[in-house]
Amino acid sequence: MRASDETLIGPDSGTRVVCANLSHLDAIVQIHQAAFEGFFLESLGSRFLKELYHGFISHPSGICLVAIDGMDVAGFVTGTTQPEGFFRQLLRRRWYAFVLAGAAALTRHPIRVGAKFLSALRYRGERPTDLTNASLLSSIGIAPSARGKGIGRNLISAFCEKAQEAGASTVFLTTDRDKNGTVNHFYISNGFKLHNTFLKERNRWMNLYTRSLIDIQLRMTATKHNT
Ligand SMILES: CC(C)(COP(=O)(O)OP(=O)(O)OC[C@H]1O[C@@H](n2cnc3c(N)ncnc32)[C@H](O)[C@@H]1OP(=O)(O)O)[C@@H](O)C(=O)NCCC(=O)NCCS
Repeated sequence: MRASDETLIGPDSGTRVVCANLSHLDAIVQIHQAAFEGFFLESLGSRFLKELYHGFISHPSGICLVAIDGMDVAGFVTGTTQPEGFFRQLLRRRWYAFVLAGAAALTRHPIRVGAKFLSALRYRGERPTDLTNASLLSSIGIAPSARGKGIGRNLISAFCEKAQEAGASTVFLTTDRDKNGTVNHFYISNGFKLHNTFLKERNRWMNLYTRSLIDIQLRMTATKHNT
């Protein structure tokens, strides 16, 4: 069960990290649009993004956290503890809503957008076969004015704790290998290690990173023993 007002990190850190609820949807979409301008999902429009993040908030295997600074949402992180089934289930359950939400983009670029929809149905989160119990961190975005203040670090940390609580032993994610130095550095500085590199589309190489959750598990066990 999701306790949407449960504070996961803060208030010492200046911002509070909490589980997202539907009242945060518009802010999450706005931050996504600013953070991922020009990327495929952003090109599908705000209705589509709203439908997607609605899925992350409401699906039992979804994790969606927001950082609140004062009254404002300063950033979000989202993912799933079941990468294999999550996207397929979401699309199968709400395919009409996704098609309606992405209709304008579908009309503009039927082949490109249609092909992406089909590949989303097959998408399994690109989990490496040697990883079991692995949660996928799908995306993280911080409002441009709030970057560089440690909010991304807090969100990653809270995401890893949530994934560990849900039984995961590893978190994995993918990000562009090239011309993406800041983001690659950000993940490495947050404890992620390069697992492998793969070609996603023509000329688009991706880095796949993993982070073991054993440190969190050990800390939780120690806390339980001490109380
Ligand atoms: C990448 C992003 C999530 C980082 O969030 P943030 O809140 O600005 O990052 P933090 O302030 O928590 O920084 C944490 C670490 O990341 C590194 N980092 C963050 N921004 C950086 C930058 N612009 N240049 C270099 N390193 C940076 C820092 O090294 C920092 O480590 P340090 O504490 O050792 O200095 C944010 O810049 C963003 O939203 N970018 C656009 C969206 C995106 O690309 N998302 C990731 C792909 S899914």
